[in-house]
Amino acid sequence: MASWIDRIGAGLVLKQPEMLDHDWIPSELVGRDDQLVALASMFSGIEAANGSGRAVVTGPVGSGKSAMSRVFAREMSRHHSAKRNIQWMHINCRNNPSESQVLQRIINELDPRHPDRGLGTGEILSSIRRMVRKDDSHMIIILDEVDHLMRKSGDSLIYRLLRIDEEYGEGGTLSLILISQEQVLDMFETAVISRFGRLNHLRLEGYDEEGLLGIVRQRAELALIPDSVEDSVLRLIAEAAAPSGDARVVIDLLANSARLAEKEGRSEILPSDVQILSVSRPENSDDSLIEELSAHAMLLLIAICRRLKSAAEISSGDAESLYKVVCEEYEQAPRGHTTLWKHLKHLEQCNLLKVRSGTVSEGRGRTQHFSMPHLLPVDIEKRLEALVKARLRR
Ligand SMILES: Nc1ncnc2c1ncn2[C@@H]1O[C@H](COP(=O)(O)OP(=O)(O)O)[C@@H](O)[C@H]1O
Ligand SMILES: [Mg+2]
Repeated sequence: MASWIDRIGAGLVLKQPEMLDHDWIPSELVGRDDQLVALASMFSGIEAANGSGRAVVTGPVGSGKSAMSRVFAREMSRHHSAKRNIQWMHINCRNNPSESQVLQRIINELDPRHPDRGLGTGEILSSIRRMVRKDDSHMIIILDEVDHLMRKSGDSLIYRLLRIDEEYGEGGTLSLILISQEQVLDMFETAVISRFGRLNHLRLEGYDEEGLLGIVRQRAELALIPDSVEDSVLRLIAEAAAPSGDARVVIDLLANSARLAEKEGRSEILPSDVQILSVSRPENSDDSLIEELSAHAMLLLIAICRRLKSAAEISSGDAESLYKVVCEEYEQAPRGHTTLWKHLKHLEQCNLLKVRSGTVSEGRGRTQHFSMPHLLPVDIEKRLEALVKARLRR
């Protein structure tokens, strides 16, 4: 076999790559318990014969709306299985934006062989009702990216689904979960939310750095070969993704840095794998601020970059000692501790470094750790070495 073929997907880092796909959902969500409880409160009594629930879930891209709704429906179904047969289905309205497409999807999920006979909405709705009730079931329908349906076909289908039991004695056939990004909501959809009731509206926030770290740790544990990535590198991924608050960004960074490592025949993800990918994100491409730095801020940053070429982070103490070495190299008298702190603060404000407070070490207060999630240390070091020479000549 050709040797190049050994280098692709060699399984050096990735154990279960499918677990890094966008649609793959872990059996447990990280850090969303409070939100799951809130959702459950909108479905209390669903296990009773006539019970049902309804919810609108909104939030930015990658806040876990789709994953959470699916995990919720699956758990509801499992949890109440002794009392009631609760089925669920997930329909993405982006791919099925018209009323008839949504109806067709629902009916096909219920009966894959159901003929597409051009029935009217009323007839289809009563077949849906009949099929669900036939085996004493209840159905949770998740309409994801529902703004596409509303924009194309209005909101009448949603109201008809909500009233599917109206002319019958028995209710509780369907529950509905509507999902939309908050930013794309218009008046129309806001009206639907108010129809559902404010108490049935769950707003998800984007994830903060700790939330993203939890998600990427879980995914690394599941999808990668043990010990192929250090926790400090996972934190670097979370830091790189933090401005977006988007869980998809950490998962993509993990998947793609694993692929970069494998492509180079390594069995470990390095900080630079993450940084190379992070630098290429358009919102991170502005590093022109380094040209404005003072000479000693440059020397300090050179010292930090040298460490960050191989490590994900550096402590403030190490930064200070390495800075002194760099000063020697450039024949400069090192500046004092207080000045260095000012430079570090400035580098952080310019978004060139990211700071994290570590655990308290004996008698010295909290150690700070610095990392460079949005830039590639080796590039910055090279640029600074050229810049600082010019700066010192002045
Ligand atoms: N709390 C979480 N725990 C684990 N994985 C999560 C969590 N939230 C989101 N994810 C994962 O992140 C990705 C994006 O989430 P998704 O539900 O598609 O976001 P949204 O629908 O809000 O755009 C999915 O792969 C999902 O499985
Ligand atoms: Mg989604």
